[in-house]
Amino acid sequence: MPIETAASVAAQVPDDAALLAVPYDAELHPALPLDLHVPVAGLLAHYEAKGEAGEVVEVPVARGDDVGRVLLYGVGDGSPRSLRKAAATLTRRVRGKESLAVVLPEGDTRAFAEAALLAAYTFKIGSPGKRPVAALTFVTADEEGVRQGESVAQAVALARDLANTPSSVKSPAWLAEQAAEQGVPVRVWDEEHLQAEGFGGLLAVGRGSVRPPRLIQLSYTPDQPAARHVVLVGKGITFDSGGLSLKPTENMKTQKTDMAGGAVVIAVIGALARLGLPIRVTGLVAAAENMPSGTAQRPSDVIKPYGGRHTVEVLNTDAEGRLVLADALAYADAQLDPDVVVDVATLTGAVTVALGRHVGGLYASDDELAARLLEAGEASGDRLWRLPLIDDYAGALESPIADLANVEIGSRFGAGSITAALFLREFAGERPWAHLDIAGVGRSTVDEGVLTKGATGFGVRVLLEWLARL
Ligand code: BES
Ligand code: MN
Ligand code: ZN
Repeated sequence: MPIETAASVAAQVPDDAALLAVPYDAELHPALPLDLHVPVAGLLAHYEAKGEAGEVVEVPVARGDDVGRVLLYGVGDGSPRSLRKAAATLTRRVRGKESLAVVLPEGDTRAFAEAALLAAYTFKIGSPGKRPVAALTFVTADEEGVRQGESVAQAVALARDLANTPSSVKSPAWLAEQAAEQGVPVRVWDEEHLQAEGFGGLLAVGRGSVRPPRLIQLSYTPDQPAARHVVLVGKGITFDSGGLSLKPTENMKTQKTDMAGGAVVIAVIGALARLGLPIRVTGLVAAAENMPSGTAQRPSDVIKPYGGRHTVEVLNTDAEGRLVLADALAYADAQLDPDVVVDVATLTGAVTVALGRHVGGLYASDDELAARLLEAGEASGDRLWRLPLIDDYAGALESPIADLANVEIGSRFGAGSITAALFLREFAGERPWAHLDIAGVGRSTVDEGVLTKGATGFGVRVLLEWLARL
């Protein structure tokens, strides 16, 4: 379900607006387009307003024989981050209403509109419950900013929808169908083609499921010739039961979102096509369902990911994301000749321990690439923190019988998110490569700000921002 709230732009405040929102700055000065018939400064003081983002002071106003409301809202320091918070608060405040007209504050229109719309996101199968506000009118001269914010918000909503869809519906083949709806050429490897071309990681992980794996490639080529070619790789585990290394129920019940990275790749490519950005981007989604069964791979099996560069002893079938990503990364390196590769994956519970639920983990083989991604993260609202690829920990991945083990046996090294990234590095080749571990940020446990409980779409905003700046 895309965001249902309709967005429109007006140059002037509509005079009949039953609900109107008007910003005030940190000095408590509102940009009032109408007379409220109350001493506004006194009113804000009365409610102990401090001028922070997220504050709302409501003033009843006469609307003919009816009563309307003006929502005076704080914008804090006016930074994109504050504007996002202010916008999301307004949308949540008017849930269930017909419409809200918002006088935009000074500053980043795009961030404001994007956050206002994202806060209206819902996902419900069954009776709808309380609906988000039906329409938002942004009162601003910057129509282009509103439209850009809307595009980004809809891309995030698509990534959320894909990840929120129950796994009974979203097989790897279903994910491939969704990719094919993004308006760009799509190539799909089914199990026979995966077998023929040696995608040993996807095949091993998919073996336990009656629903076979797929590798999905989406190709966005801009109209004008592009200087650089970016490859985005997404983990597309449509359900992660752990396989024979079965997860306990508490950990398993969230794992329909284990294709969140793949969803980000699909949504980003779709948005690029709609926005027409002048950069060539290929998306790869490594999709499989990780299930236990009589045909499942066993802990101790040895597999060979794409290209045959390394053999891998699978000591824990729950460390499956790195196996399917190994295929996609090795394929990108061998066949696609990219200038840069970025993968996005709900890879490890360990990254949540390190960075929590609001900041994603970033690893990079290249300082310049890391710096650009960190900047894009700050600007976009998808915040990242760089974690180190500690070479000394590579010993964690030694296997007595294969080139690599997929997990550490024992706990001499620990650092589960780092060792997972070190595993991926073995397959990424020598090109500039970055890895986003979004296991902590891919799912929200609360309705708050721009987040709605469930899948977050984290990664869409930072990647679109990064690509737009290239
Ligand atoms: N999909 C999980 C990681 C995950 C955990 C994502 C929680 C979202 C929320 C991944 O496949 C996994 O199972 N990782 C294991 C790796 C371990 C076996 C080395 C983990 O983190 O426990
Ligand atoms: Mn797993
Ligand atoms: Zn997983």
